[in-house]
Amino acid sequence: MAIPQHTIDQILDRTDIVDLIGQRVKLKKTGRTYSGCCPFHQEKSPSFHVYRDKQYFHCFGCQANGNAIRFLMDIDGRNFVDVMKDLSSQTGIELPKDNQDSTKLKYKREAAKPQPVAKKIEPNTQNAAANLQQNSNAPSPIAMDHDPFAEFQMQEDAFYGNDPFAAFDQATAPFEDIPQDGNLYDLLENITLYYEQQLPHSQTAQQYFKQRGLSAETIAYWRLGYAPEDWQHLEKAFPQDIEGLKLLGLIRTSDSGRGFDLLRDRVIFPIRDSKGRVVGFGGRALNDEIKPKYINSPDSDVFHKNRLLYGLYEGRKQKAQDWLMVEGYMDVIALQQYGIYGAVATLGTASNTEHLDILFKHNQRITIAFDGDAAGQKAARRTLEIALPLLNDGRELKFFVLPNDHDPDSLIRREGLESFQRMLQAAPLLSEFIFAYLTQNHNSTSPEGKSQVMGELKQLTELLPKHGSYRYLLQQYFREKLGYSRKWQPQVNNDASLSFSTKIDAEEYVIAILMNHPYLYIHFEPLSALISQDQLLFKILNIFNVIFDDLPDDTELSQYYVLGACAAYHHELQHILQNANVSDYTSSPEQADKLAADLSTKLQYEFLTKKMKSKKFSSIAEMKNLKLRISEIAKKRALTLIDE
Ligand code: UTP
Ligand code: MN
Repeated sequence: MAIPQHTIDQILDRTDIVDLIGQRVKLKKTGRTYSGCCPFHQEKSPSFHVYRDKQYFHCFGCQANGNAIRFLMDIDGRNFVDVMKDLSSQTGIELPKDNQDSTKLKYKREAAKPQPVAKKIEPNTQNAAANLQQNSNAPSPIAMDHDPFAEFQMQEDAFYGNDPFAAFDQATAPFEDIPQDGNLYDLLENITLYYEQQLPHSQTAQQYFKQRGLSAETIAYWRLGYAPEDWQHLEKAFPQDIEGLKLLGLIRTSDSGRGFDLLRDRVIFPIRDSKGRVVGFGGRALNDEIKPKYINSPDSDVFHKNRLLYGLYEGRKQKAQDWLMVEGYMDVIALQQYGIYGAVATLGTASNTEHLDILFKHNQRITIAFDGDAAGQKAARRTLEIALPLLNDGRELKFFVLPNDHDPDSLIRREGLESFQRMLQAAPLLSEFIFAYLTQNHNSTSPEGKSQVMGELKQLTELLPKHGSYRYLLQQYFREKLGYSRKWQPQVNNDASLSFSTKIDAEEYVIAILMNHPYLYIHFEPLSALISQDQLLFKILNIFNVIFDDLPDDTELSQYYVLGACAAYHHELQHILQNANVSDYTSSPEQADKLAADLSTKLQYEFLTKKMKSKKFSSIAEMKNLKLRISEIAKKRALTLIDE
């Protein structure tokens, strides 16, 4: 069972790790953390820590660590799904039903009529799984000349033999009148072929694509086709598959009980899932007078609009790095034809959490395009509200607001690739976007206007993940931009170098950051479990552990507060603050957050690998935990390094 990340996050959000672990381990509160004797190794003095707001546990002794799920898996030796089922019933958050149930893909085929109407692949029920696999990536044999998926050619040859039509010949094999079970994926593939084959027969459909500027190569690449005017063309082409067609929602039933085709006299956009299998269709009217402009096939057992993005499969094949969410099929296609890979669109529905989650899995930074008009503004606001709760762990969101009356399709045609790319790159960061968005509705020079902006900002930041520093940084950024007296930029800046000064070491640099931006402590908290206890940084982190929850909201006040709490180390701190240069932390809230997160990850990685090399383990388990943690962090680093 595949459990989507946001469901896992939701369940973790609703689970209090302190309560959960507290049922098994006696915990005592010390500052921000709870500690007790580690259940994973023998010990007398407590080195096992639980962090409530990070939903995380860590043992200084054996390096066991993880979230609530990991804890339950390790302590009871259970598997992931088992633990998730348990947590799901405890929190009341439902797990998705397992819809990969293969019986759902089957339908009853009817006995064949004497001559086949369309050339098509016969399902191979003996080996449905293999068949499905082969079909999954297989583009139309018809379009093979311009086939951009050349890498699959091998597989396809293996399946069809060298003759791409060999499979069709089997349609006339002697046993064909024995009804077999059909498979929905096979049927969808055959329908796609059929629609593709209809395109050359329709002058108007070809003319339509031409007028929209699509090349023959693009049409083949996206497997675009045409659904004829005839009310029962699918029934005629697939007489054995009526039940399958109904399951896919491609045949509707009129009040008189007669079946008719959903998509008629429309150009067809086949929609592929992440494995490249066609799972549904969008059909566009051939002129703008016909309403509705687009008809999409309804959700079915294989087609889930909420979990699909048009262009995702193709973008991955083209090794897209940057993902851009646009509104329509034609936008995705036009951008691809012009050389911008990685544009995706929802299937006629508003984008939701799952869509954004899918994209964030591919890159930490995604861009969303919006029309410049009022409807676009409204959509932007909506998307903002669903996106904010997802912005954790260095994720970044950019908003590409298009010039009035343009969509990406029309814009790239007018501007060309280079100019479009320049505009795309100039898309504002979330902080800038929100600022522009909120200030345009208020007179931000008046005190009332300013406080209204801050009020609305607060509403938005409430949506951000609770335990990140970004919400705090964003508020600071706004105060500064609105000209409140607080200064966003701290004054410490005696060194001109951009990277951290050679006069101080990495640990001291972290201290300097903490003194200037106390809220970034969130990122450095994990370091305390890794560094030696006689280090100044360890002592400072310990102080933060105690005072962090009481820090004042205001930057300047929080700096004084921290200095006061660390007064015992006044001398050392003075030296560090004089020699540190933290100016690169001040250009934008996004940058500060990201730099801190990256630095912390880098240091964790260094400390852990150093420990690993020293080979001083108290147990095999400790070594294993270390290895696991190092590989986790290496993965995280790889993701952020790609970004840069
Ligand atoms: P738009 O109406 O913005 O059109 O629909 P578009 O993408 O620019 O289409 P063209 O360029 O006129 O062909 C955006 C998306 O909304 C969905 C479709 O997925 C479309 O791509 N849509 C639109 C529908 O599902 N039904 C409709 O009637 C209209
Ligand atoms: Mn358009």
